[in-house]
Amino acid sequence: MRRSLFTKLSILFGRRPSVSWLVLCIVGVFGVIALLESSYSSTFDSVASSTNPDVYISYRKLTKLVRNDYLDLNSLSVGANWIKDIGFCGKERENYVPCYNVSANTVTGLKDGEEFDRHCELSRGQPHCLVRPPKDYKIPLTWPAGRDIIWSGNVRLTKDQFLSSGSMTKRLMLLEENQIAFHSDDGMMVDSVKDHSHLIAEMIGLGSDAEFLQAGVRTVLDIGCGFGSFGGHLLSLKLMALCVAEYESSGSQVQFALERGLPAVIGDFISKQLPFPSLSYDMVHCAQCGIIWDNKDGLFLIEIDRVLKPGGYFILTSPTTRQQQDSSASAKKGSMSTPLEEFTKKLCWSLLGQQEETFIWQKTVNSQCYSSQLSIPICKGEDMQLYYQPLAHCISGTSSNRWVPIHDRSGPLNSTNIEIHGVDPDDFSEDSGFWKSALRNYWSLLSPLIFSDHPKRPGEEDPLPPYNMVRNVMDMNAHYGGLNAAMLEASKSVWVMNVVPLGARNTLPLILDRGLAGILHNWCEPFPTYPRTYDMLHANGLLSHISSQDCSMLELLLEMDRILRPEGWIILSDTLGPIEKARMLATQIRWEARVIDLQNGSDQRLLVCQKPFTRK
Ligand SMILES: *[C@@H]1O[C@H](CO)[C@@H](O)[C@H](O)[C@H]1NC(C)=O
Ligand SMILES: *[C@@H]1O[C@H](CO)[C@@H](O)[C@H](O)[C@H]1NC(C)=O
Ligand SMILES: *[C@@H]1O[C@H](CO)[C@@H](O)[C@H](O)[C@H]1NC(C)=O
Repeated sequence: MRRSLFTKLSILFGRRPSVSWLVLCIVGVFGVIALLESSYSSTFDSVASSTNPDVYISYRKLTKLVRNDYLDLNSLSVGANWIKDIGFCGKERENYVPCYNVSANTVTGLKDGEEFDRHCELSRGQPHCLVRPPKDYKIPLTWPAGRDIIWSGNVRLTKDQFLSSGSMTKRLMLLEENQIAFHSDDGMMVDSVKDHSHLIAEMIGLGSDAEFLQAGVRTVLDIGCGFGSFGGHLLSLKLMALCVAEYESSGSQVQFALERGLPAVIGDFISKQLPFPSLSYDMVHCAQCGIIWDNKDGLFLIEIDRVLKPGGYFILTSPTTRQQQDSSASAKKGSMSTPLEEFTKKLCWSLLGQQEETFIWQKTVNSQCYSSQLSIPICKGEDMQLYYQPLAHCISGTSSNRWVPIHDRSGPLNSTNIEIHGVDPDDFSEDSGFWKSALRNYWSLLSPLIFSDHPKRPGEEDPLPPYNMVRNVMDMNAHYGGLNAAMLEASKSVWVMNVVPLGARNTLPLILDRGLAGILHNWCEPFPTYPRTYDMLHANGLLSHISSQDCSMLELLLEMDRILRPEGWIILSDTLGPIEKARMLATQIRWEARVIDLQNGSDQRLLVCQKPFTRK
């Protein structure tokens, strides 16, 4: 072949100089391209090997594969940038949570606790980099073993913090060599949580805590949850308990709970409302959660009232409240009440009981009760999508059609009682069916095999997926929570954080009323969680959604990389355009990525990615 070309060239060269010059030029251009290509790939390889010496799962081979994909793409797109991998962040970013930089907040003059609050505007414009795990990070144990034993190298905790932690929910921790154990079979240790749960059940008039569900208690907001043990116990009773605690730079309750596979999110209500609609939870629990409830003219209690459903319970365990109550009782024989008593009366809460340090109040089921109290006004206008609005000194939810006492609820939401949410029953059934079959496909894709040269098709089953642990799942655009419901139905041992993006249809009340965990979030901002806290991220239509908003897909994917643990999975489902762009960016973020054509004649595609385990 080559020989005959040269022969032809010499013939041409001899006869017609003008043509032969042209051919020589062409040959020269090819030569230069070949040279560039080889130097490009060798630079690429040497850069790759110097910056990530130890990456699992033959990353090199995969980059080559993906690079080819990229070159295809590059030839299609006009003026695309030369591919450049995103660099790694330094060690100081190992536990980086954007929006919570206390020193930066203090510098800008925030005080009275607001410096600990979420301030995303101050963390914009940071250079792009990939957050790396700590040196001795290990993949967590699978559920349920991982609930009771975590690797101490995976969380940030100082020895001092361990020794000084003494509250009921925190003392259930023993440090072994490189593990932290939360003994749940060991009688002595777990008793305090079980006793606490039993005590609550008795105080609200139940025979045991196994009856919570029958009494209408399905969802619990656990404020300042220690290390999640109480929530873990409620989960075993089939309740959904979500831990919410403020940002802590080390010894974080939220980081520990998530590491154990228990639902948790960073949140506080120092100055702003929680990102939940009103009438969200059946029970709010605070065991020594550090909030001074009678501060700020009762604003914190008003926020609890807002998120509680009618007839819901507020459980407070606090030694200081007891002292206050005792001293006021002994000094004045009950003639003068404490500020807490005053506030709860104004809120129409009734004190169901007090034992030891635990108090239980019940929110009224009568929405007229508030108007007779006068001292706290009713909020004007019903809450639409409340996203970190300032705490308000008014009562919410009284005119909502979701004002249904928890005891009167008619079983779980299904296609017959969905209409209260303005959802068409047929639409709802169809959605449920869709996610049931989508889940089967997804599950079969969670295997490194799909990155091999013979891609798996949805439905194939070898080897048994998921290839590794999937416990903490986030559905980044959850719609009705259909994926979560399908997972429950298929008895997957997962919990799902159902995120409703700001600006999408507000289905969060529906999700919460289904008894699922959910939160409102603006995906142009970082998500309030620690790095490496989710095992799988799923987003259906989110890429299209954010393209209509003013933020960058690269920053969204970098944020996904931050919150996903090494070897965790990403499934993006969208139309061809956004999926191709995301695949290109996934390469820069060093994810293994594969586009899957659903082959049903639509331009819907799946992008399945796995985050590599990168060490330094
Ligand atoms: C927090 O803010 C300070 C002061 O603005 C800055 O020097 C520091 O780098 C920030 N920390 C992080 C982790 O971004
Ligand atoms: C939906 O729930 C209600 C109340 O629990 C029940 O009576 C009804 O049979 C359920 N409908 C379906 C279709 O499951
Ligand atoms: C193909 O599948 C996607 C998602 O699985 C779905 O949204 C779409 O409606 C389907 N298209 C057709 C033509 O069936």
